[in-house]
Amino acid sequence: MRVLHVAAELYPWVKVGGLGDVLAALPLAQREVGVRARILLPAYPALKTAFPDAELAGGMANLLGTGAARFLLARTPEGVPLYLLDAPALFDRPGGPYDETGDSYLRFGALSCAAAWLAKHGDAHGWRPRILHCHDWQTALAPAYLALWGGDRPATVMTIHNLAYQGIYDKGVLEKLWMPSEAFRNAGVEYHGQLSFLKGGLHFADRLSTVSPTYAREIQEPAFGEGLDGLLAYRQHDLVGILNGVDGRVWSPASSPHLATHFDAAHRSGKKVCKNLLQRELHLAEAPRVPLFAVVSRLATQKGLDLILSNVEHLVSLGAQLALLGAGDPALEKGFKAAAHHHRGRVAVRIGYDEALAHRLLAGADALLVPSRFEPCGLTQLYALKYGALPVVRRTGGLADTVVDTTAATLADSTATGFVFDPVDGWVLGETITRACELYVHHPRDWARVQQRGMKRDFSWRVSAKRYLELYQEILG
Ligand code: ADP
Ligand code: GLC
Repeated sequence: MRVLHVAAELYPWVKVGGLGDVLAALPLAQREVGVRARILLPAYPALKTAFPDAELAGGMANLLGTGAARFLLARTPEGVPLYLLDAPALFDRPGGPYDETGDSYLRFGALSCAAAWLAKHGDAHGWRPRILHCHDWQTALAPAYLALWGGDRPATVMTIHNLAYQGIYDKGVLEKLWMPSEAFRNAGVEYHGQLSFLKGGLHFADRLSTVSPTYAREIQEPAFGEGLDGLLAYRQHDLVGILNGVDGRVWSPASSPHLATHFDAAHRSGKKVCKNLLQRELHLAEAPRVPLFAVVSRLATQKGLDLILSNVEHLVSLGAQLALLGAGDPALEKGFKAAAHHHRGRVAVRIGYDEALAHRLLAGADALLVPSRFEPCGLTQLYALKYGALPVVRRTGGLADTVVDTTAATLADSTATGFVFDPVDGWVLGETITRACELYVHHPRDWARVQQRGMKRDFSWRVSAKRYLELYQEILG
């Protein structure tokens, strides 16, 4: 089974959030279950620098009027074939993958178009996928191009990692994307008079998936559907939720190169050392018995961090500590910086993106706060489980599917792995933080059991890889 994944992120070279982690892990896990998966990404400068020996494997004479484009073929260190779409006018620029310079529609329209073209015609060596697997809006026009071009084509899968980002543009861009005007209708790429990349993918792809079973259900409802719930409900029989996994090569407290001391479920004493080192690094009081809550997150409305900000005083009054790493919304950045200033030694805030510190935070923290308003899957709570930091999460999307609340019943039957609350409400998060602190301070044995149980949970990519394979097999009959 040959599969081509197309996306805009790939850890460790281009990563903004979990999408990058998924692209680094899923194709590799698929290859381990016999799927011959390859990846296509824009030739961002970081990738061109990382793969200077990439070989020419095809090209397009004129990619949407932006000039010639080449497909360069490299291999990741793990051996996954990686095509780089070399279209310098579009991708050879500094900044993040999504930095807005006014032509995002063209950059990602071109990525979609090139993916469709490569999947339809194959590369210069004759490699052609049976499945084109698209991830998020930046690639969502690919199924539309394939359907509109007609003729022989590979099957298509559209995976939603986040419905909140859709790629909506003025209808005028249709022509610039070389899309026929008949595509601009409700049964097409049109969305309330505008062009929507994601709508196009959700309409034209053979199958749809998202990254947790609960989110797959939620997005068929107006509250989570971001305006596309009607279409998603209509296509419910083509839509499946497949949980993400944890890449143990990258995320393991037993081997992470970012940790000074290692530990695992059976030998947890190293975690105490990690906590002490973290407190020292962040200038928090070096108190071993004080519960330390961490946050590692994009600072976006999705993540519900305003609920944490409104709980800083409460958390401190319970004697707990808070350590946050994140970047994004300027108002949240400012709010958290002020909280750290106000509660020196108790609250530490690092604004920015720091992969190594993310590992040290999870290893040193007792708990991780993820109060998301919605969460397609969420990876940090999975990493936290593995690193022995109990996740405190809202019951939504993948958070609901991966964390079991600690109650008398779940303690008794040994299924508890963290703390779960329902309403988007700072007060309820506050109560949940109180519950966590009580268990930590007054029932340390129970805490240790919950922690150990979480560390042993196996969210393996192999399981997800097999589910995707079943999905492909269904499509191909
Ligand atoms: P999302 O993709 O919505 O941001 P996920 O939980 O799926 O949420 O994935 C987030 C990924 O990004 C994780 O690998 C997390 O460690 C990482 N991450 C988020 N913010 C930061 C940051 N400020 N510094 C380092 N890593 C971060
Ligand atoms: C998105 C979602 C997150 C998910 C990630 C990878 O960024 O917000 O919940 O884990 O994609 O699928």
